[in-house]
Amino acid sequence: MPTEAIRRIAILPDAVANQIAAGEVVERPASVVKELAENALDAGARHVRVTVENGGKTLIEVADDGVGMNRDDAVLALDRHATSKIRTTLDLVGIGTFGFRGEALPAIASVTRFTLLTATADGSGTEVGVTGGRVDEVRDAARQRGTTVTARAVFFNTPARRKFLRSAASESRAVLDTVSTLALAHPAVGFELVLDGRQRLLVPADQLREERLAAVWGPDLARTLLPVSYAVGGVLIEGFTQRPADAQPTGRRTQLFVNGRPFRDSFLVRAAEAGYRSAIHPGDRPSLFLNVRVDPAEVDVNVHPAKLEVRFRERLAVERAVEEAVRHALGQLVASAVVGEPPLAGAMPAPRWPEPSSPDAAPPDLFAPLDGAASEQLPAESEAAPVAAWSTPLLQLADTYICYESPDGLVIVDQHSAHERVLYEGVLRELGGEGVPAQRLLLPITIELTDEELDVIVAHAEELRRIGFEVEPFGGRTVAIHGVPNPHPRFDAAACFREMVADLARGRFGGWANRLERFAATYACRAAVKAGQRLDERSMRELLLRLFACRLAPHDVHGRSTIVQLPREELERRFGRR
Ligand SMILES: Nc1ncnc2c1ncn2[C@@H]1O[C@H](COP(=O)(O)OP(=O)(O)OP(=O)(O)O)[C@@H](O)[C@H]1O
Ligand SMILES: [Mg+2]
Repeated sequence: MPTEAIRRIAILPDAVANQIAAGEVVERPASVVKELAENALDAGARHVRVTVENGGKTLIEVADDGVGMNRDDAVLALDRHATSKIRTTLDLVGIGTFGFRGEALPAIASVTRFTLLTATADGSGTEVGVTGGRVDEVRDAARQRGTTVTARAVFFNTPARRKFLRSAASESRAVLDTVSTLALAHPAVGFELVLDGRQRLLVPADQLREERLAAVWGPDLARTLLPVSYAVGGVLIEGFTQRPADAQPTGRRTQLFVNGRPFRDSFLVRAAEAGYRSAIHPGDRPSLFLNVRVDPAEVDVNVHPAKLEVRFRERLAVERAVEEAVRHALGQLVASAVVGEPPLAGAMPAPRWPEPSSPDAAPPDLFAPLDGAASEQLPAESEAAPVAAWSTPLLQLADTYICYESPDGLVIVDQHSAHERVLYEGVLRELGGEGVPAQRLLLPITIELTDEELDVIVAHAEELRRIGFEVEPFGGRTVAIHGVPNPHPRFDAAACFREMVADLARGRFGGWANRLERFAATYACRAAVKAGQRLDERSMRELLLRLFACRLAPHDVHGRSTIVQLPREELERRFGRR
């Protein structure tokens, strides 16, 4: 009986073996880019140029100025297990190059229309053409020292795999991520990425790590980072972590390295976040750029086919080191947070609130003066006195509550909650009608988002337009905002937009059955004036008048009270007058 089984065993032809290997190495265009760029780095390139069209489905090209190959090596490189990087199993220990399996080029060539154009310093160049793993031609060709690999029509001969590719936009984003990560890991090497004819990244060779970080992540984000450098128990953590006050719910970037090699590890990201204790709002995600330096014997970098994940022998120790390193870097900033005490539900950490004493904290005129239209919203049967005559003195308490005397006693209004209620009603009207004209921006705001957040924007395109956000795709995961609503002069459109989209993507405000109401509630919460913002007398009065004009119950969109009353009888009772 076993003979039946044995007879079926055969050595796979190379072409088939290569296609199987391609399943591991060539998961998607971004992985092809990664393999080719790593070959370029192994070849000592100072500049690497990546060109991708149609998300890599049509064209992937990686050109370098490395050592190149002579004719024999160029042909050999396309053979399975051809590598210049190791000779024996002994070489596997402490390997210094990115590739060593000799698998990437043949795997890529087996599922694409492939050309390898390469030349060494002596000026002799070679071009090898391969279709679906079969070498078509080898000929002399001119090129400066270096190598260009061109892979067209990815998976043209494996339609089942081709079907698994995502949209061109999504594959392009993955390519951008891959090249960005490589650029961050190799500040000494210049990188250029051209996606569909547009240059998406250009960084020169010989940059310092800080310069490279600012070039890839953008100077605005780089400015919010604090240096990290902390050693404990044989682990050294170095890099950068974001100031708590600048952490946002969206648009965060994280990049981890182990001994300089990029890898992914959600547990370490979480450990870093734990280092913030309660210094950030629970929804905020700080950006991180951390290199874990450990003895190479303590980490296995070959557990993942694309070397994206690693295995630590002492994982807990590494996690603890990361958490402590971040906490140490934040130093003073978090020292004031109470150790071990869980953050109060809903409590906002102080750093998010503007310092009332800061120079720009002159009480803003938050609300435009009541215009005709707004006055008309006041129901005729509202308080007997005409609006203009309502001159009861107002007091702002803790930059958060507005207090005034009523015939019945003392009234305390939560300013954020009140404004939220006012905006909510207004937005529901706008969503039901024509919408409001956006305030056009001279310079668009660009915001980078996650895939889920992009989906939210597509799903709510019409609602966003109606409340005044003019949003357009900007390529990759970036959107450009050309117009914004203007609910009050201190309104931070970019922050509101980010927070709102993050809330919707994460399904906060989930209790709302009606999606328009949910959208309106999310916008109202994020657009409203915040607790901790100083208001001048006119703004407070304007806000209260608009609140009184609201038709709905006096609580906010979360169901919390907007107004608290302290009746005169209660005062009398407390002071023993009754
Ligand atoms: N851009 C390049 N410049 C110079 N030589 C290259 C380049 N790309 C590949 N080679 C040569 O071709 C060989 C095969 O490359 P390939 O990527 O298939 O294998 P590898 O890098 O050795 O291992 P791995 O499969 O792990 O990537 C390399 O060992 C190297 O000698
Ligand atoms: Mg390689």
